[in-house]
Amino acid sequence: MAFKILGVGNALPKFMLDNQMLSKMVDTSDDWITSRTGIKTRGILTDEKLLDLSVAAANKALNLANIKADSLDLIICTTLMGDTISPYHAAMVQKSIGANCHAFDMNVGCSGFVYALEVASAYFKSNLANRILIVSAEHMSNFLDYNDRSTCILFGDGAGAVVLEKGENLLSMKLITAGDDSILRVTRHAGNFPYEKFGFNKKEKSTQNVWMDGQQVYMFAVNCLVNSIQDAAKQANININEIDYFLPHQANMRIIEAARIKLGIAKDKILSNIERVGNTTSASIPIMLAEYVSKFKRGMKLLLSTFGGGMSGGSALIKW
Ligand code: UT7
Repeated sequence: MAFKILGVGNALPKFMLDNQMLSKMVDTSDDWITSRTGIKTRGILTDEKLLDLSVAAANKALNLANIKADSLDLIICTTLMGDTISPYHAAMVQKSIGANCHAFDMNVGCSGFVYALEVASAYFKSNLANRILIVSAEHMSNFLDYNDRSTCILFGDGAGAVVLEKGENLLSMKLITAGDDSILRVTRHAGNFPYEKFGFNKKEKSTQNVWMDGQQVYMFAVNCLVNSIQDAAKQANININEIDYFLPHQANMRIIEAARIKLGIAKDKILSNIERVGNTTSASIPIMLAEYVSKFKRGMKLLLSTFGGGMSGGSALIKW
């Protein structure tokens, strides 16, 4: 026994930063960004908080599911960081939507949503919950250096949510962790504890919050998508051609296209919104689920596939 999805929701910032605006901030161009990534615009939080997007996405999912917040048994938020470190994000979502269940955050980089599905599935199997809300919400513009053209063009802010109930619709799951900080890092802000005064000399001085070796991450991403999709299909004992839609993590259109060609998947089975929203890390897949919900018919097979920092990745095959 695992879960079925009862409702989905998403929310994006009011302000969308387009490539033309970015090219006035750093040495780049619409042509470079579009041809190398497929991204045209991305949402940036201005006067809203991440909590506002999270609550909007959660309420949409609850409304679609026709479920009241006080009937939830658990809330899981996936995020690199909410508006504050403490309270953690899920606690503030719980308060804001009027739920009274327990709630916790998970940080698995871009892969958070798919990992949260596995945690939810384990809760259902152990009879610890009947209904779970997952909210994946990311404020990447908080971490980016808008002088660094190799990273600031890629990411956007956003939130996606799903309401799950006990059910039989998880067909298979393949998760990957390959711990490695040499190709992708998001470092923390340095505090101002005076280590040196007390004889310590270990204060890390981070000059850049988001750092990556783009080409290495690109190679990891393509391999991760291909391998985890093949493994998830094999585990469910189905052929990749039997899958109706693929919702891959939206990091770079070229990554998705390279994996699509390797796997021999028809173009119209790949869902994407990267052109408008950029890379919203762990919010990427639930944002797409909500955006494309009208396409999904009961019984269809959907493959949700992710990769990212950690390094991490994985695929979940679900029946709608
Ligand atoms: O969620 C997971 C997180 N990250 C990813 O998935 C990222 C994976 N990697 C990528 O998407 C790609 O590697 C990038 C989009 C980041 C970069 O594309 P690339 O085709 O691998 O470009 P590159 O790093 O090889 O750079 C090619 C050139 C360089 O100039 P030179 O050395 O050839 O003169 C860069 O300095 O493009 C330059 N460049 C830019 N030029 C204009 C790098 N960023 C930009 C930019 N605008 N924004």
